[in-house]
Amino acid sequence: MAKVNPNFKNVSERYFSAEALKRAKPFIDENPGIEIVKLGIGDTSEPLVPAVIAGLREGVEKLSKRETYRGYGDEQGDTRLRKAISEWYGKRNIGIEPEEVFVSDGAKSDCGNILSLFSGASLIAISDPVYPAYRDSALITGRNIMYMECSEKNGFIPAIPKEKVDVLILCSPNNPTGAVATHAQLKSFVDYARKNKSIIIFDAAYSEYINGPTMPKSIYEIEGAKQCAIEIQSFSKSAGFTGVRLGWSIVPKSLIAEDGTEGVLNQYWNRRQMTMFNGASNIVQEGGMAVLSPLGQKQTHQQVAYYMENARIIREALESVGFNVFGGVNAPYIWLKCPEGTSSWELFDEFLTKAHVITTPGVAFGNSGEGYMRISAFGHREDIEKAVRSIRENFGTIAK
Ligand SMILES: Cc1ncc(COP(=O)(O)O)c(C=O)c1O
Repeated sequence: MAKVNPNFKNVSERYFSAEALKRAKPFIDENPGIEIVKLGIGDTSEPLVPAVIAGLREGVEKLSKRETYRGYGDEQGDTRLRKAISEWYGKRNIGIEPEEVFVSDGAKSDCGNILSLFSGASLIAISDPVYPAYRDSALITGRNIMYMECSEKNGFIPAIPKEKVDVLILCSPNNPTGAVATHAQLKSFVDYARKNKSIIIFDAAYSEYINGPTMPKSIYEIEGAKQCAIEIQSFSKSAGFTGVRLGWSIVPKSLIAEDGTEGVLNQYWNRRQMTMFNGASNIVQEGGMAVLSPLGQKQTHQQVAYYMENARIIREALESVGFNVFGGVNAPYIWLKCPEGTSSWELFDEFLTKAHVITTPGVAFGNSGEGYMRISAFGHREDIEKAVRSIRENFGTIAK
């Protein structure tokens, strides 16, 4: 007799984005004449840049001729893309071998699947609040979890755990708070991990949103990180690939786990991918190579700047009506403190019914997100301006 996985009882019925839309639906249905601006989920809105379109077209073109047609590719990714990713790190003075790069169909799958490298008994530390996929996938697979609280007091960057933890998941720039870990903060995590033979899973999906050269964009900017950190990356937010689907993970050969010698985790991830993944689309990988080309980098960075200008506009408007605002400087998310006595779902409702803007309540990202709300800057400029006008008109002055 088949028995269902009881761990599904440990996660909410719906993923957070579906929950917010369900909550908004009655208002939307009752007010068909009202145009709602959706700044809830972190989904990109601008078209792919020309260099990337050219790359994707090349991918399609290759499939149209016998001489260039290719079927299954390497599960780990096209050798040329793995090399381009290695060179991309190289330009940042980080030495990553192509064999340490595993191309994926996006970061979300790797965020969940990567835990399969570690024993079921491992204690996994997850920031709170944070991108919910880490928590939910760990819960569904029955993992032991501890939460690392992120609050205004610690600048939304968690302190290193007091106890011994086996795996730590970090996200910087952080979704949802927009906080970025400094070099010193990441160093304290790397030192902790090396001392305890723990492994850090570092999600750098928003690295390209970091403004200026001082904040670390990759965990490998920290000395010793190649012994203790796996980095997960995505083309989604930096190049508009949310629907195209492409990402990568770096699993260094020099990683050392408590009972694993150097090279084992790289070898096991390779084994896992060859068994459970059949490689990313060859067309899409051509697009990925175009993103990493000099022209692709220039054009995608301009697009990132566009979203960051949106973030500035949102931030300024919220501050002007008296909200206490975080993030939005090195990340495309604005993390807004609810006025005293208002819960994050209550503020979600207020934004929806008064300003006609869909946001995401902070509590969706973990219990420590209660009392906050996230606004995404990934919209068309005219929608952002509409939302901001409405916020200014309908919120007046808020008591902090
Ligand atoms: C922190 C973080 N990691 C990963 C992802 C998922 O990225 P992908 O589209 O590559 O699956 C998201 C998406 O919102 C995210 O916020």
